Amino acid sequence: MGLNYYQIKKNILRARKLVIKATNTAGSGHPGGSFSMAEILGCLFNKHLKFDPKNPQWEDRDRLVLSKGHAAPGLFSNMAVAGYFPESELETLRKFGSKLQGHPDLKCPGVEFCGGSLGTGLSYSVGIALAGKIDSKDYHVYTIIGDGESDEGQVWEAAMTAAKYQVDNLTVFLDRNFIQQDSYTEKIMPLDKKLESDNLSEMWKDASRWKTGDKWRSFGWNVIEIDGHRVEQIDSAIKKANATKGVPTIIISRTIKGKSVEHMEDNPAWHGKAPDSDVVPIINMELDSQFMIAPSIIAGDMTNLENEVKRCVSGRSDYIHLDVMDGQFVPNKTFDHVKIKELRPLTVIPFDSHLMINEPVKHVRDYIDAGSDIITVHAEVTDESSFGEIHDLLKQNQVGVGFAINPDTELPEWSYKFLPSLDQLIVMSVVPGKSGQKYIEETHAKMARLNTILKEHNFSGYIEADGGVNLENIGSVFADGARAFVGGGAIIGQQDVRAAIRDFRTEVLSSRRQLLLDKANELGGTELVNKWIGLHVVGEKQEQIKKIAQERGYL
Ligand code: DX5
Ligand code: ZN
Repeated sequence: MGLNYYQIKKNILRARKLVIKATNTAGSGHPGGSFSMAEILGCLFNKHLKFDPKNPQWEDRDRLVLSKGHAAPGLFSNMAVAGYFPESELETLRKFGSKLQGHPDLKCPGVEFCGGSLGTGLSYSVGIALAGKIDSKDYHVYTIIGDGESDEGQVWEAAMTAAKYQVDNLTVFLDRNFIQQDSYTEKIMPLDKKLESDNLSEMWKDASRWKTGDKWRSFGWNVIEIDGHRVEQIDSAIKKANATKGVPTIIISRTIKGKSVEHMEDNPAWHGKAPDSDVVPIINMELDSQFMIAPSIIAGDMTNLENEVKRCVSGRSDYIHLDVMDGQFVPNKTFDHVKIKELRPLTVIPFDSHLMINEPVKHVRDYIDAGSDIITVHAEVTDESSFGEIHDLLKQNQVGVGFAINPDTELPEWSYKFLPSLDQLIVMSVVPGKSGQKYIEETHAKMARLNTILKEHNFSGYIEADGGVNLENIGSVFADGARAFVGGGAIIGQQDVRAAIRDFRTEVLSSRRQLLLDKANELGGTELVNKWIGLHVVGEKQEQIKKIAQERGYL
């Protein structure tokens, strides 16, 4: 079974957009804390939580307690995506008579707990988890607490109680975004005075020294520390928590308040404030422009692929791109599913298997079983029937469905009907067969043609650019519409993989900022461009974005 990466990602995106819509319509609400826990909720709702939206009171359901209740828009949007009520109801957020109030309320079927009075959710969770044990139920309780509310003494009374009674059917997420209503958490109630500073990014560098984990451990809890925006880390932490018996688990998730919207990120002002209507389309475009970096390990030492995977892990790649070549579809041979299976235990980072093989329909099962999270097969060796079979098998196994076309191949008409449910389209920008080739310039024009077809046929997946992508062209490849970027020579071929990935991200970010400024200019001219720039108040973003606007002649 795969991670279901793309399905989770797509629903997280949908939920984030609903948060923007809801808070904008209401003119108030809490986007910052809704976004810091977006991946946690997305992973719970789309992968782990047992629930039935048609029967919210189902006795055996898992219980989700949102203790940091002010982030209600985040909860409600996930509930809407999950089918508890229509997504359009988010527009009634905070309106008189609506079941979607500023804080979660039992009036909304499916809500487990009236959150908002901070510090109380954990006590309640311990109670319902214990009740489940007494009643011999096997439901699980998942609770999300904030780092601001962790200043409350009641949290620690509950922590002691859970450890004393060995409440192991309870898993708590600490949304560790370092910001509470008035300021940074470590300024309000520091655990270590020496680490306090005015610069959040400086404070973060020392995050390993923050003592939150030690504190929970000393209260007798199983502590797992993760990056709370990495779906695969959340998934793996939940599995570990569920397998831990005799003690409660807390998953300390390092998150970014306002994550995914640059001007909201790490900015305490967005704790409780709604975006203005004129910037909403630009924010939505930004949300649509999240991107992934996928190093291709065949560009490294083929005799030690284990080490190449480790380099991707320490380089913090989003995927690991696995180029499978069979010596038939392409002249070269690389490795097959046996190798993938061997590499799988090395990391939880999604495996993006690109099958350059003949008759993929005969082999796809092996690649699922080897632990792939996304599998891409080629248009040149599939037809409507075999691709249909592959498509269904991948979906059933929660593996992302990818389809690839060679430089000389146009998207076949038979594939159009699969576009709405296709997760990934690889547009090859070199003739497949080896890494280190030059990007074929014609691909830019091809991408423009493709975008029209994809739009017409409701493609909601991600385009992956593969072949010859480097620092010089990645910006324009992003502007063409690609959102996942394979890097062989330009990443794995470099000595410092981490720096290479960081540079890839910086280039894409700069291209994204251009795109958003273009949108601002198109919608509201200089005035909106200035407003957009003015929103970016944290760190050096404002100066950098202003420079781009000047270069583009908007100022
Ligand atoms: C080509 C492969 C690519 C390639 C990427 O057949 O599918 O993934 O190895 O390597 P670079 O980025 O070096 O072209
Ligand atoms: Zn590839």
